[in-house]
Formats: sequence, structure tokens, C-alpha cells
Amino acid sequence: MKPLFILLVSCAWTLIGAQNYYQALMDYLENRLLAIEDRMQLWHEQAHQYRTEMLDFKKLTSEAMTGIKNDHNMMFKDLKGASARVDLVEREMDYVETQNSPRACANKAEKVLEQEAWGLQERDEVEEEEDWEELQSRVSDCMEIISGIRSVKILKRIGSPKGMWTRDPKSSKLYVFNGTSGDTVYEFKSVLDFSRSLGVAGSRMIHLPSKWTGPGSAVYNGYLYYINQETDTDVQVVKFDLVSGSVTDIAMFPMERNTILYTLNPETVADLAVDDEGLWLLFTPTDSEPNISLAKMDTSTLDIEQIWDTRCPRGNAEAAFVVCGTVYVVYNTRMASRSRVQCVFDVNDMMLTEEAPLLYFPRRYGAHASLKYNPEENQLYGWDDGYQIIYRLTIKTKLLA
Ligand SMILES: *[C@@H]1O[C@H](CO)[C@@H](O)[C@H](O)[C@H]1NC(C)=O
Ligand SMILES: *[C@@H]1O[C@H](CO)[C@@H](O)[C@H](O)[C@H]1NC(C)=O
Repeated sequence: MKPLFILLVSCAWTLIGAQNYYQALMDYLENRLLAIEDRMQLWHEQAHQYRTEMLDFKKLTSEAMTGIKNDHNMMFKDLKGASARVDLVEREMDYVETQNSPRACANKAEKVLEQEAWGLQERDEVEEEEDWEELQSRVSDCMEIISGIRSVKILKRIGSPKGMWTRDPKSSKLYVFNGTSGDTVYEFKSVLDFSRSLGVAGSRMIHLPSKWTGPGSAVYNGYLYYINQETDTDVQVVKFDLVSGSVTDIAMFPMERNTILYTLNPETVADLAVDDEGLWLLFTPTDSEPNISLAKMDTSTLDIEQIWDTRCPRGNAEAAFVVCGTVYVVYNTRMASRSRVQCVFDVNDMMLTEEAPLLYFPRRYGAHASLKYNPEENQLYGWDDGYQIIYRLTIKTKLLA
């Protein structure tokens, strides 16, 4: 019996021992699990926190983005407002300038030099009785005077910074002279045709028998009149029939070679201008002469009918045009700013000094290389840093009319 008891007791002990052992193991495992759970909880919490933080951050960034967007919009609006204000100030400046600046100087036609024909004939400096008679009789009955620039249209930009373009007042055809000299001219059927074309594609390219020198050409009634100055010849005016493609006349011009008409555009040797009266030539006989001279030309024979000293200085002049027998000289500064008509000369002496308009051109790109007047439309065709610009003019009648 005793050994059995002992066995039982020892078995029980063993069992108890095993149970203790398992209990300890269980405790251990449970502790581990708790620890893991704790850590998981922590992770979970941390993950949650991160997520919240992420969400907060996202919210913040999106708010910031919206803020930035709003700021941007506001800034854009502000900028637009500012540019509108700048425009307004510019317009006000225009107004103030036209109100307060000294009037453009209008020069009276006192000294008239008459010359019957082209050529090397000496100019008659003696004022004779006939000259005075000539002065009394008006050259024209045209009574229009420019009072303002009504609107501006920028057509397109082709070619080089300098050049000229003009419309034949007797047709709808348009002519483009790219650069400062050349022997080609581009002819377009109309302004619309030109504005729709890609560069000079779609135009008729006209080859001339000699070079046009400077942006001083004119087109009138199917004829092109251009200045030609080769290195070894005198300055001449060439009349070219645009339909038949042939030269109809050439006239030598009584002026020194290599003179500069407008100091801001030294390429312009002489400048042909068209108005309701016909053809005019702006030139300077010698380089020592400080003022611009004007000649009335016969469109069919190229004869000079009369010559005037406009007493408008060449210095800082950029371009000039003639409207109803009145020369308007446009001035600027070497650092191109706003062009303005600052000197006016009326061959009929019909413009009162107080009528002379001081016109400011609107803001532009660079500087005018040329300005060509079209009397049919009362428009100026300007070439500004390669841009082709049309200025529409407001016209009034001379008070003395
Ligand atoms: C105009 O002339 C410039 C150089 O003076 C040249 O680069 C350009 O291609 C010309 N444009 C056209 C349309 O002929
Ligand atoms: C040029 O014109 C000014 C007026 O603008 C005049 O005072 C001056 O005498 C003229 N010079 C010559 C050489 O005609």
C-alpha cells in the first residue's frame, strides 16, 4: 500500500508541479500578450494621431492653397486695377499735356521759293513780286486740320524693326516696304487681306529696277514714287507704274548727298507724302540746314512747283506728314518716349497759331520708323518696331475758312 501512496503522492506533486509550471507559462504569455496589446494600442493610438495630424495637415495645406489662390486672384484683380489706373493716368496725362503744354509752334509761310522745274537750276533766293503774288493765292481750298488721334489699331507685326507701309488713296491696295532699303515691294489687295495673311504670303512681290532708299516712298493713283540714292549717284525721285511694272519718270533732286532729314531716323534721306492736294516732298537741301524744307511736286511730270522752309527743326524729328497743305512734324527723344506733333507748318498760312494742335501719340512699342497719311481715310499708317499700326485722326475745319 505504501509504495502506491508514495507513487500517488509523487504523481500529485508532479501534477502540481506541472500545473505550476503551466500556470507560470500562462502568466508569462498573458503578460507578453498584454504588453503586445499595450504596444499595439500605443501604435494604434500613434497611427490615429498621425492620421489626425495628416488630416489636419491636409486641411491646413488645402486652406493655405485656397488662401493663396484667393490672394492670387486678389493680386490679379489688384494688378488689373493698377493697370487700368495706369491707363487712366496716362490718359489724364495726355489731357494735361494737351491742355498745359506750350502750343505746337505753327510757322507762317513767309518765305516762298519758287522753282519751275526740277534739275540743277540754282534756287532763286531773291524774293520777286511774283513770289508774293504766289503767296497771296492759296495753294488749295482744302481746309482740314487734325485735332486729335481718335483710335489706334495694331494690325500685325511683320519684318524688321524699321520699314513703312502705305495705302494708295485712290484704290484699296496696300504696299509694304520691309527694312530701310531694298528693291522689292509687297502689294496686298486690301488692309484686310494684309491682316489675314501670314507674313507676306499672298502678296504680289514687285521687283523694282533700282533700290528704294529709306522709308520715304509714296503710292498715289497706281504709281509708286520712291527715293533712290546709290553710292555714286545723286538723290533721285523715281516714278514707277505699278500696273505695267515700268519706270515712267526719274527726277534728279537738288540736295546734298548723305543728308539726314529726321535725326531720329537717319535712314530717311527724303520723305514723300501724299494728301488731298497731291504729292509733297520733305527734304533738307544741305546737312547744315537745321530746318525741314517742303516741296510741292507735280505728280505727272515730277516737277517742283514750289519750295518752302517749314522752320520746323530736323533735330529730334522722327517723321512728318502733310494734311491739306499743312506739315505736321512728329518729334521724340533718343530714348524713345511718347511721339508728339510739335511743329506745324501751313503752306496756305491759314492756320492760326492757337489752332495748332499739340498731339501726343498713344503708348507704343519702340519708335516710329515712318508715318504715312491717307487722305481718303484720314488715317496714318505707322511702322513701330516692326508693328503695323493705324492711327485714326479727328479732323476739324480751319477757323479762317
Ligand atoms: C524683312 O527684313 C528682315 C531683315 O531686314 C528679314 O529678316 C525678314 O525676313 C524680312 N521679312 C519679310 C517678310 O520679307
Ligand atoms: C529754323 O527755324 C527756326 C524757327 O523754328 C528759325 O528761328 C531759324 O532761323 C531757322 N533757321 C534757318 C537757317 O532757316
